[in-house]
Amino acid sequence: MTYPYGQLPDLYPEQEALFASAAATYARYRPGLPDAAVRLLADVLRGQPSQVLLDLGTGTGQVPLALLSAGADLTHIEAVDVSRQMLHQASQALHPLLGHCTLTLAHAAADEYEPLATLPGEPDSGPDLITCCRSYHWMNGQAVLAMADRVATPGAAVAIMGDGSLWSHDADWTRALRELIQHYLGSERRAGARSSYAEPRRSYEQDLADSAFNDVTEHLFPVTRIWAPQEVLGYLRTTSFAGAGLFAERHQAFEDEALALLHAHTVDGSLVEEATFRVLLARRVGGAR
Ligand SMILES: C[S@@+](CC[C@H](N)C(=O)[O-])C[C@H]1O[C@@H](n2cnc3c(N)ncnc32)[C@H](O)[C@@H]1O
Repeated sequence: MTYPYGQLPDLYPEQEALFASAAATYARYRPGLPDAAVRLLADVLRGQPSQVLLDLGTGTGQVPLALLSAGADLTHIEAVDVSRQMLHQASQALHPLLGHCTLTLAHAAADEYEPLATLPGEPDSGPDLITCCRSYHWMNGQAVLAMADRVATPGAAVAIMGDGSLWSHDADWTRALRELIQHYLGSERRAGARSSYAEPRRSYEQDLADSAFNDVTEHLFPVTRIWAPQEVLGYLRTTSFAGAGLFAERHQAFEDEALALLHAHTVDGSLVEEATFRVLLARRVGGAR
């Protein structure tokens, strides 16, 4: 079920709690999308008579923000998230850039999402591009892809994308940081206050192969990110594996140790992350619905 943003009590208390406290910090410290990936998404939309984006797990609106900033001629954005705080941040970030583009913020789980309304004068319209950026692993993937098939235009594409995290990144400084987190929180990677992270049982490719969107191409974009130690601390506060709440009263002690560790690993004051941003771009074979 879908609800307009701001009208409801908690729908998904655990997920809301996990992301709520991080929303403002998230907007500040999470990396955006690489330019080349944004160009790929903009190319998917180019040529559509009216360019409609459905962004699932929009968070602070990174995907629509990147597309609008790159000059994509979007006519409508439907931004879906289980967290009202994230939707609030997305609203603030997107409104200055909208121009003629309309925006609907939908408070829903992606797999339960239903369009709130048809676009004015376009009863058969639907999204031309459906995006899940750093969010698909939180969702019931197969149900999300079935929903995408119900709502998307015949020629639409689904983009599942992301770039791992500093937990999984393999460098001296990220390994040392991971060990420090494990020293405080135990060896298992945490996923919020109550659970541990579980690797997805099926790959995204398997989900797509079994869905209507089974014409899949993979696009890899290398990205070099330069972090200052304080920025890493800000980023960690937004994560499900090292958010402040997990450390309770030991958070300050953790941050003090982490800062010293990070400073010890800097070169010219910086820490380098060589990441790969991956986009799986999927369409229906022959554009059929
Ligand atoms: C790691 S953030 C990614 C945000 C944004 N797409 C980005 O790339 O920065 C994951 C987002 O997915 C949302 N989320 C988690 N489970 C969800 C679900 N089942 N349906 C919709 N949104 C969900 C969270 O509230 C959070 O805002």
